[in-house]
Amino acid sequence: MRERLSMNKDWLFHLGEIGGKVSATHDVIYGQAKAGGLKGPGGIEWNDNAWDTIQLPHDWSYQLPFDREQGIADFGYKQRGIGWYRKKFFLTEADKNKQLMLHFDGIATHATIYFNGNVIERNFCGYTSFTVDITDRAFFGERPNVLSVRVNAEESEGWWYEGAGIYRNTWLTKTDKLFITPRGIWVNPQKQDSEQWQTTIETTIRNEREQAACFTIVSAIIDPNQNVVAEQRVQASIEANAEETIQQAIPVTNPLLWDIEHPHLYTLKSMIEYEGNVIDEVTTSFGYRTIRICADTGFYLNERRIKLKGTCNHQDHAGVGVALPDELHSYRIQRLKEMGSNAYRAAHHNPAPELLDACDRLGMLVMDENRNFDSSPEGLRQVENMITRDRNHPSVIMYSLFNEEPLQGTPIGRKMFQRLKNTVRQLDPTRPVLGAMHGGVMEDEGSATLMDITGFNYMNGAYESFRAKYPNQPVIGSETVSAFSTRNTYESDTTLQVFDSFDTERASWGNTVRESWKTINTNDYIMGTFVWTGFDYRGEPTPYEWPSVSTHFGVMDTCGFPKDAYYLYQAFWLDRPILHIVSHWNWQGKEGMPIKVMTHTNCDEVAVYVNGRLIDRQAIDRYEQHTWSIPYEPGTLTMEGYINGELVATTHKETTGDAVALRIEPHKSVLLGDGRDALVINVHAIDEQGRFVPDANELIHFEVQGLAKLLGCGNGNPNSHESDIGTSRLLFNGSLQLIVQSLAGDGELKLALHGESIVEQQLVVPVVTSNVLPYVPSVRALYINDWHVTQEPQLNKPDPNAEMDLTDMNTWEKVDVSFGFRESMKGKSGYVVYRTQFERGLVDFNRSPQLLFQAIGGDVEVYINGKLQFKRDMEWNNEVIVSLEDDTPSDYITVAILVRFAPNMYSPGVNGAVSLRLSNEG
Ligand code: GAL
Repeated sequence: MRERLSMNKDWLFHLGEIGGKVSATHDVIYGQAKAGGLKGPGGIEWNDNAWDTIQLPHDWSYQLPFDREQGIADFGYKQRGIGWYRKKFFLTEADKNKQLMLHFDGIATHATIYFNGNVIERNFCGYTSFTVDITDRAFFGERPNVLSVRVNAEESEGWWYEGAGIYRNTWLTKTDKLFITPRGIWVNPQKQDSEQWQTTIETTIRNEREQAACFTIVSAIIDPNQNVVAEQRVQASIEANAEETIQQAIPVTNPLLWDIEHPHLYTLKSMIEYEGNVIDEVTTSFGYRTIRICADTGFYLNERRIKLKGTCNHQDHAGVGVALPDELHSYRIQRLKEMGSNAYRAAHHNPAPELLDACDRLGMLVMDENRNFDSSPEGLRQVENMITRDRNHPSVIMYSLFNEEPLQGTPIGRKMFQRLKNTVRQLDPTRPVLGAMHGGVMEDEGSATLMDITGFNYMNGAYESFRAKYPNQPVIGSETVSAFSTRNTYESDTTLQVFDSFDTERASWGNTVRESWKTINTNDYIMGTFVWTGFDYRGEPTPYEWPSVSTHFGVMDTCGFPKDAYYLYQAFWLDRPILHIVSHWNWQGKEGMPIKVMTHTNCDEVAVYVNGRLIDRQAIDRYEQHTWSIPYEPGTLTMEGYINGELVATTHKETTGDAVALRIEPHKSVLLGDGRDALVINVHAIDEQGRFVPDANELIHFEVQGLAKLLGCGNGNPNSHESDIGTSRLLFNGSLQLIVQSLAGDGELKLALHGESIVEQQLVVPVVTSNVLPYVPSVRALYINDWHVTQEPQLNKPDPNAEMDLTDMNTWEKVDVSFGFRESMKGKSGYVVYRTQFERGLVDFNRSPQLLFQAIGGDVEVYINGKLQFKRDMEWNNEVIVSLEDDTPSDYITVAILVRFAPNMYSPGVNGAVSLRLSNEG
């Protein structure tokens, strides 16, 4: 049966390139030109003893200091560089009959994957997920497998913070040799009439067995209440080493629809039944829903017209760079949902699978975007990769093939777009494709009119003329706004590089929130908006540079703390009454001076009071909102909101005292003790009366104990140069955030925080036993691979320690000893010598190193650096363990094994893997 194991645990990591050739002798050069013989950090026998142990997902870039000289503004002034990862792991003898595949969900940016001494894959996009089949090259039993990944993050694909490293999840699947291929399921429900649906399913099966196979495909549809509502069986057969795609259509009556309010998810269970047994099983979550677009009225979900209220987002978050624990994706989508947003643009790249899972679960529509506008074979491969990975997600409603491309309005761009679009169509004819254009839309020869939807980035004034020219072309605000604001800040300051929150600051190409939404909302033919951006992100600190290191575009900051604009979107996007005061009321020292105060509301009238005194009652224009100038007087500023004369909302801001304590808000009350679950802990300064203090900026120290570890921290300040992986952080305008992750087990997480004027505050969160996702443990053992053996058996006893001629590849034959007995010795008498040499640095002498010979037979002498360490006459093969002693100053350890053999012996020689074992393994 199929196993899916996490590969995230305990990798060894080395930051920086490992240069130079190990040695340039003929022996080495010859050897590394052979399958399995690669030398260096991608090879088997590399000294990684001093490397750090890290857990995936891992992003090294944000952990480095901000660097004005070497860093680049677009990348958040963080260095990127090159890194190496290694993981050694065992596969069992039982795995010999299985198909073995590694899955990498995302590596930034260019990755070379090495396995057991060879390159087995290269991946050239930091956002694609890919699979590597290791079946042919795997070792079983005592021999550890060596997986090594070189990550080149000197390559970049964007102008934002992209992170560096294996920053998404990794998996190993073990299946039968007759198996459902990776991404082999495409479930595409089609509505027939008002009640009836056809669940069309494609299942791709591969047969890696040596014979043809007859089998049954069973597809079962399971509803959200876990009832099987339909099942269909199809008999099929497949030749050896072949692949088949089997089509099914399963009728389902009146399914619960997937919708943004009620995202009902079904499960497709796909099974291969062979000789009466289920030998493979894959589950795919999917939804029943229809989408339709119309040039006049926009987008329809289940025939309900929906204005897309979207945000564009990159993928980093405070405290963790781009290495988000799965739970954080849900956290971010939830924050956007609460804002009233119903759509998410994965700008400008394919997101993590867990993000799409969260969108499916929470009811968020997705514009899935391709990174590179490239119609070469590699570019097409990247688009294919996006479609085959994402087409089962009901949340995905459109594919964007590019963002702002100089060729967008040209005949070349048109041809490239056509080729990419054809690729999409072949794999998924159900979703519209677009490009996000920032010009060139009026060019007949360009790509705009090839699109199912033409994406407008900004160009707020250009919709009308485009529609006049192309009345039948659907349009969408694929990127809008680009307004600037800084959380809880009410005065722009070019010296401090901060922006006020009154929705007037914006990029020259952008619009205020109000202008943009007015255009989108008052034109029915504009399908919707994707605001730049939902969250601030590292890098691209427009319009400033150093000391700004992240953006000011977000409706929320990098922690997901709402800025004032968040409430303006709520007012625009939610149906319930929203009333929010833009400003705090802590203007000590400004008594009597005019203070700017604004509404973010959907009420049609607002009354303002200071300390109970009515200041003004105003009709509010929905798009304009209203701004007052109110003389400051400490106390309470109150607003009342009316709709049709009826009081529907009240809110206030109070002048607070100094911060003396913290309000600690974990985003959920229990953490799963599975070693993966994560908790966002928001920390807010409060005064003696428990009121939030919006101008508290003091340093807070924290310590996490118990069954959790601190992943990182942040405060949303775009100018902060503090480390995200420290144990203290300044509050920024009242708030900071910690992100912790559970350890496996049952217990509690204890957090203690304090500042100079803030006495120790504590939080205890239960960590409850939960199933730990099955995973592949790492081992410290190292397989010693590089053996030579005397090619011809010798009749006279040779000197096993005689110097070897390293240019002679014929007297000495390179051999992989783990493959067992050499037929050339059968029925004969004589001697053979086995030799290997490995770097002394591989051996950590503090950890009781041993050489473990899985199987040796014959009359054997083992010499280490010329010294006899073991001698025994063995008729049968035995496991032999030889300790290594630190008794030589040489750079290499030489192992020589002399074997005397005779016809009566049972398979003499070195017949199994040789490993170097260090204590504290695993
Ligand atoms: C757009 C671009 C985005 C971001 C934004 C800033 O042109 O697509 O990636 O750079 O401008 O306003």
